[in-house]
Amino acid sequence: MSNSQAHGAEIAPGLTDLLGQTRAKSSPKAVCFCLMTKRSRPWGHNDPINQPTKRNLHPDTISVRGGLIRSGFAETSEALFLTSGFSYDSAEQAEQAFMETEEHYLYSRFSNPTVAMFEERLALIEGAEAALATGTGMAAMFASLASLVEAGDRVVASPAMFSSCYVVLTEILPKWGVQVEIVAANTEEAWTKALATKVKAVFIETPSNPLMEIVDIALVAKLTHKAGGILIVDNVMASPVLQKPLELGADVVMYSATKHIDGQGRVLGGAVLGTKKYIDEVLKPFTRHTGPSLSPFNAWVLTKSLETMSMRVHRMADTAFEVASALEGSKGVARVVHPFLDSHPDSALAKKQMLKGGTTLAIQLDADKDKTFAFMNALEVIDISNNLGDSRSLITHPASSTHRRLGTETQLKMGITESTLRLSVGLEHAGDLITDLKLALEHL
Ligand SMILES: Cc1ncc(COP(=O)(O)O)c(C=O)c1O
Repeated sequence: MSNSQAHGAEIAPGLTDLLGQTRAKSSPKAVCFCLMTKRSRPWGHNDPINQPTKRNLHPDTISVRGGLIRSGFAETSEALFLTSGFSYDSAEQAEQAFMETEEHYLYSRFSNPTVAMFEERLALIEGAEAALATGTGMAAMFASLASLVEAGDRVVASPAMFSSCYVVLTEILPKWGVQVEIVAANTEEAWTKALATKVKAVFIETPSNPLMEIVDIALVAKLTHKAGGILIVDNVMASPVLQKPLELGADVVMYSATKHIDGQGRVLGGAVLGTKKYIDEVLKPFTRHTGPSLSPFNAWVLTKSLETMSMRVHRMADTAFEVASALEGSKGVARVVHPFLDSHPDSALAKKQMLKGGTTLAIQLDADKDKTFAFMNALEVIDISNNLGDSRSLITHPASSTHRRLGTETQLKMGITESTLRLSVGLEHAGDLITDLKLALEHL
């Protein structure tokens, strides 16, 4: 293609008007960029517009500004690069890019500028060296472990967790010769015993879904390292706002971005965070070929969501504590489980390692399954749903939905009965939620 073609001199007549209009409104530089077909990188990290400040910024500032790379149009909001692939100036440049001797996006299964903005912003918020985004939380969980282990390795995991994570650990990894041990109990004694033997990785979820068990991250990190392993923390229930596992000694943190990070019930997503060495040398070679990538569109939604995450999570956590306190002792409620209630057996530990007790509580009703369902059906504000971390309050019956796959025996081991409910508290007014719950209790 000639230079004049590249600058729009020989374009189809139908397009000329359209482009002419654009030209009239925009600066010549912008139009030039519109029509440019060959030069693939008119902007980037080295562009003066993208030079980061050297100042130490507060996390709230990082949440709205971290990771932003502006294109040549100098847009205020993050650009959405909804593209599967990228083009090259020449065959030689494509070769150099694949040899990694030239920095260039190759294909959105490997990386994408919008996804990179989300990864960078989340890593800055988490205080991690690097992040890798995935299409779902389960993709993040699976990749964080599968990239690390091989047949014969030993993995140890906490006793209570989200059911799909439990299936990966107890059914999928063992099929490939990985030896997985679920710790007998969440006590110092049981962890010390399980980690007296060499281990490749330890996987914990804290607080756990749905019964808010608290694992001592600093203790398990110390024991894991002594046993030669790396500690992976599923930090979904706490969110990046309320708990910082890396500061407590963990090596890797994973998220379902579907939960508090999106926080508005729109898109699925996930992320794994850790050292640059782990992300670049362990995780990326695995995900590049197995393809659990995050869509650029979802990455754009999630990047914007990070801007409001701290405000949302703090407000939801405050309301969750208010709702938990109001429900405790109510007629028909056998137990309310919330990490910051004094009645929680590990509230002191939760207060040590979390900023607030999270946005979710468990409610153990004094009722059978039919009455429990009647209670759920009587709610008028709170929705029945299996998601959590949403701006809308959602109630879940884990035994028949999220944790159904585990079967009754494992459910009971985790403390889940037919009268256990999980309540994810949203952004509604606390008073409206308490009224909704108290009126529904009258149906027991
Ligand atoms: C604690 C926890 N980890 C992981 C996941 C999986 O996330 P996703 O649904 O985005 O795959 C969930 C989903 O509910 C979860 O609650």
